[in-house]
This record gives sequence, structure tokens and C-alpha cells, in this order.
Amino acid sequence: MSKKPIRVAVTGAAGNIGYALLFRIASGEMLGKDQPVILQLLEIPVEGPQKALKGVAMELEDCAFPLLQDMVLTGDPNEAFKDANWCLLVGSKPRGPGMERADLLKDNGKIFIAQGKAIDAVAADDARVAVVGNPCNTNVMIAAAQAKRLPSDRFTAMVRLDENRGRAQLAKKAGVSINDVSDLYIYGNHSPTMFADFTHAKIGGKAAADVIGDEAWLKNDYLPTVGKRGAAIIEARGLSSAASAANALIDHVRDLTIPGTVHSVAVKSEGRYGFNPDVWAGMPVKTTANGFEVIESFEMDDFAKSKIALTNDELVGERETIKDLLA
Ligand code: NAD
Ligand code: LMR
Repeated sequence: MSKKPIRVAVTGAAGNIGYALLFRIASGEMLGKDQPVILQLLEIPVEGPQKALKGVAMELEDCAFPLLQDMVLTGDPNEAFKDANWCLLVGSKPRGPGMERADLLKDNGKIFIAQGKAIDAVAADDARVAVVGNPCNTNVMIAAAQAKRLPSDRFTAMVRLDENRGRAQLAKKAGVSINDVSDLYIYGNHSPTMFADFTHAKIGGKAAADVIGDEAWLKNDYLPTVGKRGAAIIEARGLSSAASAANALIDHVRDLTIPGTVHSVAVKSEGRYGFNPDVWAGMPVKTTANGFEVIESFEMDDFAKSKIALTNDELVGERETIKDLLA
């Protein structure tokens, strides 16, 4: 095996998303079929989760994955993130039925202070961070606020599940293959306020709005269906989405490693598309050799601007709620 292994730290590794994620990373679906990996798995340092983590590691061993060079199992963030090239922050409490995302803000936020500090202190110089644990746009801001060494563009949060959901719903409505739907990007928060920008989406290379031919459906059915899909899954399954979330994280990381790929990522807005400069908002990015550049060229109409303003307000409100965690 000639390539140097990539160290992938995963938090909440014994949880539901972890169980749907780790085997796919180890089989090469995230970083390539010729790329060896070392998994550095973090769980809370208490008996139950640590025991469950051992069980997951036993199963990983039993898969005899040729690319899986080593595993670290730990309850210590400084060990989990040591020299890590990718830090996948999944571990945190999910919503249960009837819960609002705001209920998670303070509880989960605290986790990301300690993890942001540890990443900045011990992760590799090229470390990149992808936050999944909710509310992910705000948790990534908390983690990034701890960084003194790593620049803020290394910290991203996941809105790729929303992009995938949005493409699937357009394909279903138009009665076409998912492969015919392109240019659908997610703006703003991973929450019901997100804006799945159907105004620039394409179906079979034509404007999606023309192909669908039903503006009222796009505005009044499509957007809420995509925005509230997480809650609908929780209602149906009694549990938060896990396999589709893990799949989206594989997409998020893989596409951030393939130059030229354009996809939705929550990044520090720096004022783009009218977002508050300090919030992490979903927007289209193009992967480059060393990172990404935001695509800033989409012209938004008044409807799109009003949707972006709403999701921006929510992000600013979340930031305000946890401002004591940013110090
Ligand atoms: P889960 O409860 O099954 O697993 C979470 C795991 O994290 C548990 O094993 C728990 O012990 C562990 N954990 C908690 N605090 C930790 C800490 N400080 N360090 C390390 N591990 C810790 O939950 P899940 O279904 O895997 O979901 C995980 C998170 O992902 C939730 O916050 C959920 O809301 C979020 N999520 C986000 C998206 C998205 O699109 N961004 C989609 C689905 C789920
Ligand atoms: C999802 O989108 O499925 C998750 O973020 C779960 C949630 O809380 O909505």
C-alpha cells in the first residue's frame, strides 16, 4: 500500500450515524478505494458507550477491510484528534419526537468548546472539520471560535443531506431520474428555514421551475417538505435520520476532496449572499486543490432574498443564544 494513511477522527462513533458511517469510510467510499485510513473513534468516557464502541470496532475488524490500517478507541478528545486530517463531529444529542432544534442549542453547544480546543491543539496542520451534530451551523461556529491555529475555512457544517433531499423531491415531482436534477444548492441553516434554491436548479438542463410548471407547489409544498424532512423522519422512525445522514457526510467529505466539484456546504459566510459575516451558512462551494471557493455569482430574485433573510435571522438568533460559548 503506497499512499500515506489519512487519519479520520469520528465523534459519537457508537451512535446511530456512526454505525452507518464507519464501515463506509473504512471501505474507501469517502476518501477513495486506494486510500488507507486510520479511524480515531471518540465516545463519551462512560462504560456503556465505551463498551458499545468496542463492539463496533470488533465488527470493523471482522470486515477485514484492506484500507483500514488501524483504529484508536478513546474517551479523550486529545487522543481522538491527535494528528487527525479529518475531524467528523457527529457526537451530540439528537432531537426526539416533538423537540425543537433550539432545545439542543445550549446542551450540545458545550461539547464543541472542548472539541474545538482539542482539535486546534493536536490535529494535523491540514486538519479539516465537518460538523454534523445539531444544531450543526451553530456548533461549528462554537468549535471554530476555539481555534487559534486553524483558519475558519477548515471548519464546515453539513447541509448536504438537505441538498440530497431537495434533489430527490424535485426528481420525484418531475418523474425523472435523480441524475437529471442539478444545480440545487442549499442556503442558510440546517433547519426548516433553509432555502433550497429551486430558482437556479435544473432538470435535464432546463430551469426546474419551467419543467415543474407549478410555482405555488415549489414555494408552498416543496420548500416546507425539504425543510421539515428531518422532523418527518423522526416522526416516522421514532429516531433521527441516520443512514441518510451518514451518506450525506460521505458525500460532503468526498466532494471536498475532488477539485472542481460544486456542492452545498455550510461555511463562514463572510457576508456572502447577504448573510451576517460571522454565521456559518449553507451556500454553493467549488472544491479547489487545497480547499474550496464559494460560488458568489448566483443572482437572487426578491423571493430568494426574502428566504435568505429569514434563515439568516435564525442563524443570528442562534448565535445570540450561545454567545457566551464563543468567548
Ligand atoms: P445518537 O444518539 O445515536 O449517537 C450520538 C452519539 O454521540 C452517542 O453514542 C453519544 O454517546 C455520543 N456523544 C455524545 N456526546 C459526545 C461527546 N461529547 N463526545 C463524543 N461522543 C459523544 O445520535 P445520532 O443519530 O448518531 O445523531 C448524532 C447527531 O447528528 C445529532 O445531533 C443529530 O441531531 C445530528 N444529525 C445531523 C444531521 C445533519 O444533516 N446535519 C442529520 C441527522 C442527524
Ligand atoms: C435531519 O435533518 O434529519 C436531522 O438534522 C435531524 C433533525 O433534528 O432534524
